[in-house]
Amino acid sequence: MDPCKLFSSVFSEANSNARDLSLSKRLEIVNGITQFGECFSSQGSFPRRSVVDSPHGNHNKTARKNETVAVKMSSYVSKTPNSRILYERAKKVLPAGVSYGVRYFEPYPFYTARAKGSKLYDVDNNEYVDFWLGHTALILGHANSAVTNAVADQLQKGTHYGTCHELEVKLAEQVVKMVPNARMIRFTNSGTEANMYAIRLARAYAGKAKIAKFEGGWHGGYDALQVSVK
Ligand SMILES: Cc1ncc(COP(=O)(O)O)c(C=O)c1O
Repeated sequence: MDPCKLFSSVFSEANSNARDLSLSKRLEIVNGITQFGECFSSQGSFPRRSVVDSPHGNHNKTARKNETVAVKMSSYVSKTPNSRILYERAKKVLPAGVSYGVRYFEPYPFYTARAKGSKLYDVDNNEYVDFWLGHTALILGHANSAVTNAVADQLQKGTHYGTCHELEVKLAEQVVKMVPNARMIRFTNSGTEANMYAIRLARAYAGKAKIAKFEGGWHGGYDALQVSVK
């Protein structure tokens, strides 16, 4: 089998659960859409069940819900033609069409062109209120000038030394000062990596192999945590 196809299918399967998460998380963003605020806005979650599957036998309600979603979906599609084109291209070169499993939602994700403060603007110039804010990392919002100026300054001095740097010491000192139970810091490149190290450390310290994990919780791409993800 073509290795790319194999990777893509394994990736898609592993992320089928994550897609559900993407939907609910993304809906938080979509709920906040200002320019086309009706898009998915009245639903807390995307109705996956058909009328027949309805667990409560409330067929009319489910049918109405499906109808509302169909209308809103069609409105979304009509307002995001450039995103659709990008997604068609993406599917050919990115597994499942995305760079991160939870970014996918139906019928296709929108593509962001720029962002400022609390707003995202997609490639069709739709405006979104962003409740996701870079996986909650952007506590100062998008393109905050204090951050962009500091980054611009640093860019002139080089970007990747592969050596130690005073700023890492300063940042670690700041975190230790601000987080009461943090005595030392190991910076990582991702949440997946952080969790992997945390588990390794806990196993070494406790001398136990098993770990406990919340049912349905998403903690990144580490194998040991890709269990029971919703
Ligand atoms: C609770 C939690 N843990 C881990 C991760 C994985 O982080 P990363 O994508 O940086 O690997 C995420 C990502 O959203 C997360 O929400």
